[in-house]
Amino acid sequence: MLKKYELALKARNNAYAPYSNYLVGACLVLKDGNYIIGSNVENSSFGLTNCAERSALFAAISQGYKKEDFSEIVIATINDIPGSPCGACRQVISELMDKDAIVTLINPNLTNTITLKVKDLLPYAFTGEELNEK
Ligand code: THU
Repeated sequence: MLKKYELALKARNNAYAPYSNYLVGACLVLKDGNYIIGSNVENSSFGLTNCAERSALFAAISQGYKKEDFSEIVIATINDIPGSPCGACRQVISELMDKDAIVTLINPNLTNTITLKVKDLLPYAFTGEELNEK
């Protein structure tokens, strides 16, 4: 099994998801050969929950990596049908990853793998450019 898939699947075990029991793992693939994993971290104040994708991206940025360092993010859930990133994650992915970077959604036994590009994840995204037109 490809390492990026193995790491995304393994990252599910680190999820803190006592409320939903829906375990999600993400593996950010870096062009320098490194991988950074993330998992969902829930909170009793539900709105504070952080998804696996954002955990991985925030960890990578915190470690000093930049948009151009990321080639792909792999997202793994516990279901047979791969999970699709939520709206908040699409917004964050759009800002922190290159528009041509790859988003891969996998299921546990890799029988269903969906691949798309960041630019297809959130058409007509809010980019922040609007902030300069005030
Ligand atoms: N979740 C993710 O980690 N990624 C997604 O893209 C969708 C949702 C998490 C958040 C929460 O812990 C649980 O899945 C149920 O929504």
